[in-house]
Amino acid sequence: VQAQQTTYTAEQVRALAASVPNWFHSMDLGHGVVTKGHKPAATLEDEWRKFRVPDLAGKTVLDINTWDGWFAFRAERSGAQSVTALDFYMWAMDLAEHFKHWREHDKPVPYHETPYFKPDLLPGKKGFDVARQVLGSKVRDVVGDFMTCDLAALGRFDVVFYLGTLYHMENPFESIRRLARVTRQVAIIETEAIVAPRLEDEALCAFFESDELNHDISNWWAPNLKALTGMCRAAGFARTEVVVGPKPSSTSAFRNFFRTRTRHFRAAIHAYQPGF
Ligand SMILES: C[S@@+](CC[C@H](N)C(=O)[O-])C[C@H]1O[C@@H](n2cnc3c(N)ncnc32)[C@H](O)[C@@H]1O
Repeated sequence: VQAQQTTYTAEQVRALAASVPNWFHSMDLGHGVVTKGHKPAATLEDEWRKFRVPDLAGKTVLDINTWDGWFAFRAERSGAQSVTALDFYMWAMDLAEHFKHWREHDKPVPYHETPYFKPDLLPGKKGFDVARQVLGSKVRDVVGDFMTCDLAALGRFDVVFYLGTLYHMENPFESIRRLARVTRQVAIIETEAIVAPRLEDEALCAFFESDELNHDISNWWAPNLKALTGMCRAAGFARTEVVVGPKPSSTSAFRNFFRTRTRHFRAAIHAYQPGF
C-alpha cells in the first residue's frame, strides 16, 4: 500500500509505526516509512498483481481475515466504493509475546489456549488501527470470527478476499459455504495447496495433525486444485478460474514420472457466482 495524503509529520509516522510490536504486512505509511512486516512490500504488491484482482471501481469489497489490512487498504486505493475488513483471531493475540514463545513448547499449544490470547483487548489489531489512522483510510473494521459471526448482519459484497485463511479452518468446506453466502460476484481465494503426483485427478486434501506445516499449529488442511475448485462449486459458486497454479516440478518428463512426493505451493483462484 502506498501512502495516501498524510497529515502526520515524519516523526509522528515513525513513532506510530514503532508503537506496533509486530507487523505482519509491510505498509508504506508515507514519509518513507515502510513497516517491517513479515510479508515484504514487494511480495504483497506482486501477490496483488498475480491474484488478478478485477477492476474495483464502484464495487463493495470484503477482506476476510485482514490482519494488518494491506489488501483492504490496497482495495480502497484501487477505487473500491467501500471496503470492510474483518478479523478476530490474530487481532486477539498479543503478538509480541506470542512470537517470543511460539516454538518453546515440546508439544505445540493452540494459540487461543495460551495466555497471549486476549480477545477483550485485541492487542493484535494495533497494526491495522495505526495503518488506518495514518493512511486516513475509511475502511470499516468488523471484529468477528468468520466461522461464527452473523452473516446476515455482515451483508453481501461484490468482491470478497479470502486470502491466507482456508488452511487455518478446521472445517474448510463449511468456510467456503459461508464465503459463498457473503459473495455477490466473485471471491478470490488464496491458500496453501498440494500437488500429489499422479493423483491430480482425485480431489484430495492433506491434513496436518499438529504443527507439521510451517511449524504452525493453526494450519490444518491443504487441498489440491481439484478439491479446492470442487469445494467452491459444491458450495454454490457457478465456476472457478485458477489464477495461480503449481509451478511445473521439472522440465524432465522422465524425472517427473518417478516423482512421488507431495509438493506444496500457494494457489489462488477466482470463484464466480452464477451470472458473473
Ligand atoms: C496468514 S494470515 C492472512 C492475512 C491476510 N489475509 C493475508 O493474506 O496477508 C491468517 C489470518 O487468518 C486469521 N485466522 C482466523 N482463524 C484462525 C485460526 N484458527 N488460526 C489462525 N489464524 C486464523 C488470522 O486472524 C489471520 O488474520
